Amino acid sequence: MALTRFGISLDEELLGQFDDMIASRGWANRSEALRDLIRDALVRQEWEAGSVETAGTITLVYSHETRELAETLNDIQHSHHDAVVSSMHIHLDEHKCLEVLVVRGQGKVIRAIADRLIGTRGVLHGSLSMTTTGRHIK
Ligand code: NI
Repeated sequence: MALTRFGISLDEELLGQFDDMIASRGWANRSEALRDLIRDALVRQEWEAGSVETAGTITLVYSHETRELAETLNDIQHSHHDAVVSSMHIHLDEHKCLEVLVVRGQGKVIRAIADRLIGTRGVLHGSLSMTTTGRHIK
């Protein structure tokens, strides 16, 4: 991969804040920090585009004792079997379950699946972590 160098003009105060952030997050240098931030922006763009194939994880916490909840969540996953590529179920304690789903597909489809699962009555907490297949990002 060929590397290109380029200069950036920045307000001194803004550069100071950037350097503080680099130190606190443990980036090796400004270039490494910029590369990560650019990739993060590109991942967000993939998701905002809606139609680009992307990847992520959906995390759910719920009580398996809530009537029909486990079946409902399972039904939703089965109806999107092409997008839910893997799942892990952990019995947190006597009552609570933690489920992590690895999902892959168009951003808008994944978001809709996540919203439906997280919004299901009885789900105590849920989140969608948006990442990328890396196909469009070097
Ligand atoms: Ni469980």
